[in-house]
Amino acid sequence: MKKILLLSCITAGIVVMHACKPKKDEVVYSPVNYNFSIPDFAKKYIGEIKQPSDNIATVEGVALGRKLFYEKMLSNDNSMSCATCHKQENAFDDPRPFSKGTNGALGNRNAMTVTNLAFSQQFFWDGRRATLEGQAHDPVTNPIEMAAMWPDVVARLQSSGIYPDLFYKAFGTRTIDSNLVTRAIAQFERTLLSFNSLFDKYYYQGDSSALNAQEIRGLALFTGKALCNTCHVMNTLFTDHALRNNGLDNDPADAGLMSFTGLSTDRGKFKVPTLRNIAQTAPYMHDSRFATLEQVVNFYSSGVKQGSPNIDEHMPDFGSGLNLTASEQADLVAFLKSLTDKDFLTNTAFSDPN
Ligand code: HEC
Ligand code: HEC
Repeated sequence: MKKILLLSCITAGIVVMHACKPKKDEVVYSPVNYNFSIPDFAKKYIGEIKQPSDNIATVEGVALGRKLFYEKMLSNDNSMSCATCHKQENAFDDPRPFSKGTNGALGNRNAMTVTNLAFSQQFFWDGRRATLEGQAHDPVTNPIEMAAMWPDVVARLQSSGIYPDLFYKAFGTRTIDSNLVTRAIAQFERTLLSFNSLFDKYYYQGDSSALNAQEIRGLALFTGKALCNTCHVMNTLFTDHALRNNGLDNDPADAGLMSFTGLSTDRGKFKVPTLRNIAQTAPYMHDSRFATLEQVVNFYSSGVKQGSPNIDEHMPDFGSGLNLTASEQADLVAFLKSLTDKDFLTNTAFSDPN
């Protein structure tokens, strides 16, 4: 009797399992919220990621966004993806001074790193976009970048064998549109978090041997005499993400924030970039004028143009020059190099999935 009961239970179990198990190729919509990995020491300063309420990251959305970030169908001639100009080994920046579009045209600004942007609210050097979703819309149609038209891009993705199912998994619809494309890309970009440099080990995780004596002297200069942390704030992000004029020119060729707001009081203001992985993101400044970190530090030491329009309130502290000695400058550069996060540059979760 017992035996029969047991047998029928097993049979029932098998029937139930069989009914519930999706068929091998069946695509289901059951998204799982994505777990961002922000270390506790960073959370103390910057809290949790702020996501738009209509685009909460899911494992499926991030996976789709990653695929789209590396997808060349996003450009007019299928030759270029976001990653063409935002390369992982360069902290998702472009080592070329000016990126080249699909038609060979050169832009007039250096590409920007995509690092810890989940905490940023103004995008591009001139801050003209307020969300990552909005930002991701622009390069696709920019004539000097991917030079495509959204209806063409959407039609290609729609008729590709793979994408409709991936959109279904992420968003519950097989009907692709530009908003869903940019939402998925933004979800992926929010996962590009970098908090694992030697500096982090030394400063936040108590590993006193992680930095050498020169790097430690550089850190002291960064937060002290050299005044760097007034804008590249020591909030674990090394930026306040604000737009400021750091005194590059008395007569800026690029109006910066003013080219977006039209206000003369914004002339010469540019987004304060993060300094994380800065050794990987040469050349430097919005117009790539400096090839090396030594040149950058030399500029801050003795090259700041006090007559620059709307120069930031912190820059007059640089007065007639910080006049750092050669060895102080070398210390500062050594410290900047300790902000490299090797895991970030090689993390396979961020690499080309195709
Ligand atoms: C042809 C090269 C090129 C391509 C392709 C490209 N970008 Fe960019 N990206 C740039 C340049 C140059 C800038 C800075 C432009 C400016 O400020 O006017 C930039 C800026 C950005 C920023 C702003 C970062 C910040 O801190 O404000 C983000 C985010 C970004 N790109 C993501 C993307 C995504 C997503 C794609 C694909 C849909 C993409 N880019 C395609 C060159 C490129
Ligand atoms: C007034 C705010 C301010 C201060 C103080 C400041 N910076 Fe900057 N920093 C900026 C801004 C704004 C930019 C971008 C300027 C541009 O490209 O037009 C920048 C750019 C940089 C860059 C190039 C980043 C890139 O991705 O191209 C480096 C490196 C840098 N700063 C290091 C330093 C160091 C080192 C110090 C201290 C000696 C310092 N900064 C002090 C605001 C500041």
